[in-house]
Amino acid sequence: MSVLVIIPAAGSGTRFGGDIPKQFQPLAGKPIVQYIVERFLLSGFVEKIVVAVTDALLTTIKQAPGDRVQFVAGGETRQQSVMNAFKAAGEDFDVVAVHDAVRPFFRIRTLEALLDVAREHGAALPALPLTDTIHATKDGILTGTVDRTNIVAAQTPQVFRYDVLRDALERAMRDKYDATDEAGLAAHYGYDVRVMPGDPFNIKITRPEDLALAEAHFEEWSRE
Ligand code: CTP
Ligand code: MG
Repeated sequence: MSVLVIIPAAGSGTRFGGDIPKQFQPLAGKPIVQYIVERFLLSGFVEKIVVAVTDALLTTIKQAPGDRVQFVAGGETRQQSVMNAFKAAGEDFDVVAVHDAVRPFFRIRTLEALLDVAREHGAALPALPLTDTIHATKDGILTGTVDRTNIVAAQTPQVFRYDVLRDALERAMRDKYDATDEAGLAAHYGYDVRVMPGDPFNIKITRPEDLALAEAHFEEWSRE
């Protein structure tokens, strides 16, 4: 099985703030995105990793042809960044995994379980049931409680058969439809997206306190 990994890393991290975008903040001494790339390279299935970064950063990166890791310019939205990476990657893959540049603690064994399910059913999403009660609000006033029975919180890596992601991305381009993640996109176009157990340690670094948590638990959470 030949796997392409796409890492959208062209966001500006408005909720995180700071001088450098959150995906380049150091975690245990390394930029978060570098730590993630190295972790993916541990899987023998991964043939290529394409990282989408901002134009400004792209001009500073030296790339050699034939490298397993390739950099491309990202886009305005996450989906456009994924599209640019997908187009640059070539076609020789069975499955594609899309992973946030700010989720350092995914596990290779979770990835490999997702790869098998995606190959069989077309798409696989790691997700967690919600633990908090979810309320709807309007102008700061609680208006009702959301029934969370059928609601899950999406994580990454989200894995797709190559043809499934290609079709979903191409249709979205034509329709000018922009989804917040690729699992949502695939489901929007009628694909069977299998929901698999996510991992509570696989947090997304969104705000500065998430990085503090990641540093504090690095040893424990980074275990395979
Ligand atoms: N991303 C991207 N291109 C964009 C927007 C987002 O590649 N135009 C990437 C981010 O770099 C990140 C992932 O999508 O790896 C998840 O997005 P999120 O956590 O929302 O990051 P940001 O959009 O950078 O943060 P914020 O929403 O707080 O601005
Ligand atoms: Mg965002």
